Amino acid sequence: MARKIVITSGKGGVGKTTVAVNLAARLAQKGQRVILCDADFGLNNVDVCAGVEHLVTYDIVDVIEGRCRIKQALVRHPKYPNLYVLTSSHSVPERYVSPQSIKLVLENISPQFDFILIDCPAGLDDGFHRAVATADEALVVTTPHISALRDADKVITALKSYRLNALGVVLNKVRGDLLMSGDCLNPKEVEELLKTHVCGLLPEEYDIYGGDLTELHPAFRTLASNLLTGRKRLYDVTKKYRGFIGNIRRILKRKL
Ligand SMILES: Nc1ncnc2c1ncn2[C@@H]1O[C@H](COP(=O)(O)OP(=O)(O)OP(=O)(O)O)[C@@H](O)[C@H]1O
Ligand SMILES: [Mg+2]
Repeated sequence: MARKIVITSGKGGVGKTTVAVNLAARLAQKGQRVILCDADFGLNNVDVCAGVEHLVTYDIVDVIEGRCRIKQALVRHPKYPNLYVLTSSHSVPERYVSPQSIKLVLENISPQFDFILIDCPAGLDDGFHRAVATADEALVVTTPHISALRDADKVITALKSYRLNALGVVLNKVRGDLLMSGDCLNPKEVEELLKTHVCGLLPEEYDIYGGDLTELHPAFRTLASNLLTGRKRLYDVTKKYRGFIGNIRRILKRKL
């Protein structure tokens, strides 16, 4: 049976889809059979971020409504043959899609895969419920900013009412220079605030997404290996700000 992991956050724009897509690609690269499921109805963009939008014929609503079989709706990624994208629909009002129907689709296909990553919409309303109810584990993505942390805290509280395992926080968009100077919360402080362990640390870098998934950022390798092994290693986001060149980078960044 696949591990079903929902990637959620509360606050919008903190990097759920970026994490879901890159993590799915890395797990697939490591030989895991992965489904990346878009549960963000309305603002769905997993197909675009994964670079497969031109390959989509059917979506999850077509499966639910019997217009195709699940295998026909799974889009095999051209660069990662172990990665399959299951898109959601923006043409069907989301109130028509029940959590039970998505759960049923994913449960039927689950024995043939190792991971199902579910990209959750922002907010704590029906879309959140629909995505979370289909999963057995949750990753909460946040940034080290106060508004994102407050929303992450609300999400973690909401998740307690679902029976989800291995809850971990992915701290995204962390600036290594600010972390070094103590001007941004560090993972330990975030753990204390959220009372949840940080299982991923991702730097703020304009090219973190790597365009069409050609090259995955090493921070996603660390996160994927934590998921696979249960270890808690964190990517060193300060590395590029150390040493002679690193100091220059830090000074330049301060001037921006
Ligand atoms: N570590 C990062 N460094 C720099 N930019 C990032 C990083 N992570 C995400 N981004 C950018 O932030 C923006 C929002 O990311 P993304 O779409 O993944 O967030 P989201 O949480 O899925 O948003 P939504 O709530 O709208 O679904 C995108 O432009 C993305 O490229
Ligand atoms: Mg998103």
